Amino acid sequence: MSAFVVLGAQWGDEGKGKMTDYLAESADVVVRFQGGNNAGHTVEVLEKQYKLHLIPSGILYKSKLNVIGNGVVLDPNAFFEEIEYLEKLGIEVTPNNLIVSDRAQLIMPYHKILDSLKEKSRGKNDIGTTGKGIGPCYTDKAERSGIRVCDLMHTQVFKERLKENIDFKNEMITKVFGGEKLDFDAIYKEYLILAERLRPFVADISVRVYDAIKAGKKVLFEGAQGTLLDIDYGTYPYVTSSNTIAGGVCTGAGIGPKMLDSAVGIAKAYTTRVGKGPFPTELLNETGEWIREKGHEFGVTTGRSRRCGWLDLVILKSSARINGLTSFTVTKIDTLAGLDKLQVCVGYKYEEKIIDYIPASLEDLARCEPVYEEFEGWDTSIENARSYEDLPENAKIYLKRIEEFTGTPICIVSVGPRRDQTIEVGAI
Ligand code: GDP
Ligand code: IMO
Ligand code: MG
Repeated sequence: MSAFVVLGAQWGDEGKGKMTDYLAESADVVVRFQGGNNAGHTVEVLEKQYKLHLIPSGILYKSKLNVIGNGVVLDPNAFFEEIEYLEKLGIEVTPNNLIVSDRAQLIMPYHKILDSLKEKSRGKNDIGTTGKGIGPCYTDKAERSGIRVCDLMHTQVFKERLKENIDFKNEMITKVFGGEKLDFDAIYKEYLILAERLRPFVADISVRVYDAIKAGKKVLFEGAQGTLLDIDYGTYPYVTSSNTIAGGVCTGAGIGPKMLDSAVGIAKAYTTRVGKGPFPTELLNETGEWIREKGHEFGVTTGRSRRCGWLDLVILKSSARINGLTSFTVTKIDTLAGLDKLQVCVGYKYEEKIIDYIPASLEDLARCEPVYEEFEGWDTSIENARSYEDLPENAKIYLKRIEEFTGTPICIVSVGPRRDQTIEVGAI
């Protein structure tokens, strides 16, 4: 297998960082293809914890090429802050191990301001965004007023595009939202300095990724967010603004669909979500609280508490279909140890029918009642399990049901945050 994607099968935070790091050991190139620094990917290696937002999780290995694709929205300040953070932790980051697409859209200061103003104006209908300017930046991309990395590389082009944008955004900020006007000169000067720092990293990444695959190198595409946060297939409008699904790899990294050999869905052994939006199996009780504490379910990017609930197989089955998943990795099964009984959602009751897909309309989804199957829990702590045989029988039954219901095999079971807490059970 030479090119494969690792992506979230639920609402994000499934353990993509850990699994990308684990699987990157045998890869040559790691590519982010969508999202931005709204992502928070945690990797633990030898007692050290790394929190990555924008830079691919392959950066922790020496000699891998890491790529920020054109589908990513890049905040240059966040980019350099993350490089400095990594360098403080002893990780070297240079244009030899990190390149950025010349076609990536830039997150500008007005995007962050508009993100927060728009959220405030939504009142109780806010989305609960990360506030990083993601939505407004993708809005400009689609509206064709965005500024790309290649535009920043041409001072005159950048100056003109920035001027047009600031004039228009200032009207919007002051007249629509009653906010404060932005100063063109200050932003222009700041970005000219950032441009020179960014220049050595800039490349046509489609060419580099294509050449790598053609040369037989192994390329891992690292998803951010999750399938249910996808702009088309997620719980719209409570989603992010990019295509988080496998299809996003082609548009976000400039490769054809036939170049992707497989797609690994990362699924947490239960379900979590940060921010607002529907969540059929949410547990608003002590069990939900218990899972949040035991699983340390607090956001990496915003520090917010994650909402917790039972495993939802309707979501995983939909995710397998939408992404063409070839396998699942199940993470955090260790967190569930100690629960007497486990509920797993195996269908939604909707108008007297049982359905196994997610309706498009949130009004219809709100009328869906989860249908549960009950499983016996296990008491034994499993963070030290290192083979499938080490897992308690009841955990194996739980895992088997995931495979059976989704029609998709499990390739890896993760029993803790560290690299060594990983059990390979089948092919990717
Ligand atoms: P991502 O956004 O998908 O990369 O996930 P996050 O890093 O936001 O959240 C996953 C959290 O679970 C991180 O703190 C990981 O270190 C941790 N983690 C990953 N896999 C496991 C696992 O199998 N067991 C436990 N207990 N923690 C895990
Ligand atoms: P990783 O890659 C979980 C959520 C936000 C909000 C919605 C829109 O760590 O899994 P945005 O700022 O993107 O406009 O916010 O999407 N969200 C995430 N939730 N994990 C993430 O990333 C997320 N990135 C965005 O909480 O509900
Ligand atoms: Mg995360």
